[in-house]
Amino acid sequence: MKLSTTIFSTSLLATAAIAAPLTAQRQARHEARKVARANNRESHPPYKSDTKEILHFNESSHESYSSNWAGAVLVGTGYTAVTAEFTVPTPKVPSGGSSRTEYCASAWVGIDGDTCDTAILQTGVDFCVQGSSVSYDAWYEWYPDYAYDFSGISISAGNVIKVTVDATSTTAGTATIENVSTGKTVTHTFTGGVDGDLCEYNAEWIVEDFESNNSLVPFANFGTVTFSGAEATDGGSTVGPSGATIIDIKQNNKVLTSSSITSSSVTVEYV
Ligand SMILES: *[C@@H]1O[C@H](CO)[C@@H](O)[C@H](O)[C@H]1NC(C)=O
Ligand SMILES: *[C@@H]1O[C@H](CO)[C@@H](O)[C@H](O)[C@H]1NC(C)=O
Ligand SMILES: *[C@@H]1O[C@H](CO)[C@@H](O)[C@H](O)[C@H]1NC(C)=O
Repeated sequence: MKLSTTIFSTSLLATAAIAAPLTAQRQARHEARKVARANNRESHPPYKSDTKEILHFNESSHESYSSNWAGAVLVGTGYTAVTAEFTVPTPKVPSGGSSRTEYCASAWVGIDGDTCDTAILQTGVDFCVQGSSVSYDAWYEWYPDYAYDFSGISISAGNVIKVTVDATSTTAGTATIENVSTGKTVTHTFTGGVDGDLCEYNAEWIVEDFESNNSLVPFANFGTVTFSGAEATDGGSTVGPSGATIIDIKQNNKVLTSSSITSSSVTVEYV
């Protein structure tokens, strides 16, 4: 990889000139995103509790703590799609919290991000609360790029939504959010030109304390998120979360979530 890059850049100057606009385009995308969303919201791979070291699971790890991920992660190979439905919760200021601070959490499904930390194809909903004001955002992300908001869908507490990611290759795929009451969907198609390749090693159903401006946002009391109809496609077959590693969020030595799985659901409760 390194070698071919060197050959590429030293001997093929003409090609480099063609490659340059791509980099500029990518940079422009980042800049547009920064302007559009001043807080630079990003999902990240799971960190070990109270560190920024990536937490890697394997087939034999069954339970773990992370600073930012709660839920369930399947570890294997050949994961090409992940889906589930959940009811959008009403976030609350955590006990001892301030009415002037904004608290958030996010529920999403995704491919990779753990044993493959070069990319995450994911989609979900952020829920935030500040004092008595609650807000929601539906988004898609191909980490390490930022998350982008979907337009044409407006989320409120109690909505039942279905979130799905589908990788058609390691650099292309779709992120879809469906209003289960109406069947109306919003979809984003990634057609390649992404910043990192998928490995298709992980399928996950996650409640995340995401990052804004490179630090974790104050974590909201989100009540309970139950991902029902939780399914992944593994080597062309449909599998449930059974056998997944269960993760809970622990920050400053305090466990903030309690996650559990059944053969078709993942439940994450704020404790
Ligand atoms: C994040 O950084 C941007 C640009 O520096 C700033 O405008 C914004 O207020 C910051 N947001 C938070 C939540 O600190
Ligand atoms: C798998 O993870 C467990 C703990 O989560 C660790 O003790 C073990 O060494 C890991 N195994 C491999 C093969 O990495
Ligand atoms: C789903 O559709 C229902 C019925 O039209 C609507 O009340 C709700 O706001 C919609 N929710 C989303 C997330 O689109």
